[in-house]
Amino acid sequence: PLRPVLPADIKSRKGGAPLVVLTAYTTPIARIVDRHCEIALVGDSVGMVLHGMPSTLGVTMEMMILHGRAVVRGLSKAMAVIDMPFGSYEESPQQAFRNASRLMAETGAPAVKLEGGQHMAETIAFLTARGVPVMAHIGLTPQSVNTLGGYKVVGRDDEAARVLSDAKAVEAAGAFSVVLEKVPEGLAGRITAQLSIPTIGIGAGVNCDGQVLVIDDMLGLFTDFRPKFVKRYGELGQAADEAIAAYAAEVRARTFPAAEHAFPDVLPSKGPKS
Ligand code: KIV
Ligand code: NA
Repeated sequence: PLRPVLPADIKSRKGGAPLVVLTAYTTPIARIVDRHCEIALVGDSVGMVLHGMPSTLGVTMEMMILHGRAVVRGLSKAMAVIDMPFGSYEESPQQAFRNASRLMAETGAPAVKLEGGQHMAETIAFLTARGVPVMAHIGLTPQSVNTLGGYKVVGRDDEAARVLSDAKAVEAAGAFSVVLEKVPEGLAGRITAQLSIPTIGIGAGVNCDGQVLVIDDMLGLFTDFRPKFVKRYGELGQAADEAIAAYAAEVRARTFPAAEHAFPDVLPSKGPKS
């Protein structure tokens, strides 16, 4: 019997087999992710990889709802987590609850993710107390690219203590798991060892409780830039280029469509039965 994964299951996986997470934005990809992963994350990375935006800052609630619904339709056992977009939760815990509850109600996903450590702890506690399971996201938080000054590693040297404090703050606030993005591997290992909730790493080394990648990055579909932490498990962009080039050549040579793809004016008569 397929029981869907829930936030409590993820939390209780601490210290167990590694959690496998990928982003998903569409139903067909969600169906594949569902077969292999515990979590399909509807990341606000959708703005960059599917909509051509220069950062995640322009992503809207409407986009997250549309993609969230598509992903939830494709899942039967994995859990969907929906990213809260920039501007939808930072103002107050009340604003965060209003938008988080809308994401859950309109997509059917049982959890949301939001960026921020100590300064978002009050909001995480407010949401958790009111029935909204929260996955936290610390280290490099792309929605803060303009205050961070780029997509640099977060947590080297003096910064390490602050990232550890962020991790402890989101844990104490009730987050059921936490994404560690672009955090040095030793620090990610120490955070993982000190927390009672699973850490899910992206560019955070092998010592996290789970790993996440942006699906279009790992499939070779999004190639505008390639962070060091991305491993290409496929070259689907190249496969698409080759397929489209072959189609274009055949249309121009009138070798597509062939007779087998066309409808004859008169159906061939059936031969005598043997
Ligand atoms: O938006 C996203 O895809 C994410 C993951 C990279 C963690 O937040
Ligand atoms: Na995100």
